[in-house]
Amino acid sequence: LNVLFVTPEIYPLNKTGGLGDVSAALPAALRELKLDARVLIPGYPQVLAGLKNKQKIAEFPDQAPFPPSVLLSAKLPSDGCGGENGPARLPLFIIDCPVLFCREGGPYTDTSGRSWTDNALRFGLLSKIGALLASDASPLFWRPQVVHCNDWQSGLVPAYLHFHSGEKAASLMTIHNLAFQGTFPPDTVAELGLPTESFDMNGLEYYGSMSFLKGGLYYANHVSTVSPTYAREIQTEPLGFGMEGLLAARHEHISGIVNGIASEWNPSTDPHIARNYAITNLAAKADNKIALQQLLGLRIEADTPLFGAVGRFTHQKGYDLLLKIAPQIADLPAQLAILGSGDAILEQELARIAKNRSGTIAVRIGFDEKLAHLIEAGADSFLMPSRFEPCGLNQMYSQRYGTPPLVHATGGLCDTVVDCAPATLTDRSASGFLFNDMTSGNLLGAIRRTVDTYHDKTVWRQLMRNGMAKDFSWRASAEAYRKIYLSLLS
Ligand code: ADP
Ligand code: GLC
Repeated sequence: LNVLFVTPEIYPLNKTGGLGDVSAALPAALRELKLDARVLIPGYPQVLAGLKNKQKIAEFPDQAPFPPSVLLSAKLPSDGCGGENGPARLPLFIIDCPVLFCREGGPYTDTSGRSWTDNALRFGLLSKIGALLASDASPLFWRPQVVHCNDWQSGLVPAYLHFHSGEKAASLMTIHNLAFQGTFPPDTVAELGLPTESFDMNGLEYYGSMSFLKGGLYYANHVSTVSPTYAREIQTEPLGFGMEGLLAARHEHISGIVNGIASEWNPSTDPHIARNYAITNLAAKADNKIALQQLLGLRIEADTPLFGAVGRFTHQKGYDLLLKIAPQIADLPAQLAILGSGDAILEQELARIAKNRSGTIAVRIGFDEKLAHLIEAGADSFLMPSRFEPCGLNQMYSQRYGTPPLVHATGGLCDTVVDCAPATLTDRSASGFLFNDMTSGNLLGAIRRTVDTYHDKTVWRQLMRNGMAKDFSWRASAEAYRKIYLSLLS
């Protein structure tokens, strides 16, 4: 079974969030199941620079409005893990189109965080070439039976395929985050070579604009998202972000499959942390706490609970709530180690509170893969007060690292964390702390509950062990995707 996985980011070449991790790990897990999964990605500078032995395999001449481009093939570089069948062997197709993709800045925004003004053209090209490779118009010998699209940047693949009259692959559209929809002015439809009749409520139209994501949700043969709870939540307001009607109408064609985590997130082999440890030598985890406290200038205190948080500073992630109650957290007493970037005001305010409370609260602004690993290993508990969370990866990493997460009861967080309570402690499923209703008071209440539990060493060890023993591997998720692909072919 051949699968073309179309994505705007892939770890370790470029990554802004969880989609980058998923784009490397899921196709690799599919290959372990003997599917021939290959990935299509834009040729950003980091992608081109990070790949050796690139080969030109096709040329796409000037096809207005798209500038000429070249298709390269290469293998994802080894990042020191994954083994024989790991991501290192993953075949990639890269769209080399310097005018659209070779520039300084992020994949979606310029250096000051503003969306690239030609994003419709940039991801129109990704979608267009994805559809081409998935049809009988492809210049390649290798043809997929299924094209697996991810987020709005590849949302037009199913739309282009719908209007292609020849043979074509079946399509699956996976939503990693419905808040990002890729909306553009109506004339974008014709500019990108799609028929004007597709600008309709039953098609690409979305409240007077055109939406890339809606193209995927409407035209794909099947839609999936990254957890069962989020799959239900997006069929109603407010988490449907305006797409709830369409999604509810397609409910029989919507699945929720929880992500797995990649093998490099493993405390017994992680090269980024101060000392490796496993469920059998939990005591060694303490050295990571000391290393983290030292690195961030926190007071070296073994018995003060240390909360970690890593992520994008956006409304979604709820850092504004954390900011509000940071002084009360410090007074519990507890320590806070936060890594992230995004919203400029949150960056400034968090940095300010860290300055006022140095020794107790530490904030690092930026993207730092190594520090993210050390926070998972060195913190006692991991905070994720997300307003919504399609799946979330960090709460799974933290369970594997014996760092029980404290999360808002939403989306994938509900599906992957089991609240600590007498019954769940008895059946050994308890693995963290959940709170309902997004208020700073409820968050603080949950933090207090976590701190109290932390000081009960027997219960805390049990929680650590329960989380570490859970299976978060990609295998089960890859099996679930394979079932969907097969159902699309029958
Ligand atoms: P999302 O995709 O919504 O950002 P996820 O929890 O699915 O959330 O995935 C986030 C991923 O990005 C994790 O691997 C996390 O460690 C990583 N990440 C986010 N922000 C940073 C940062 N500032 N530095 C390092 N890694 C980060
Ligand atoms: C998104 C979501 C996150 C999910 C990730 C990978 O960015 O916000 O919850 O884990 O995609 O699927």
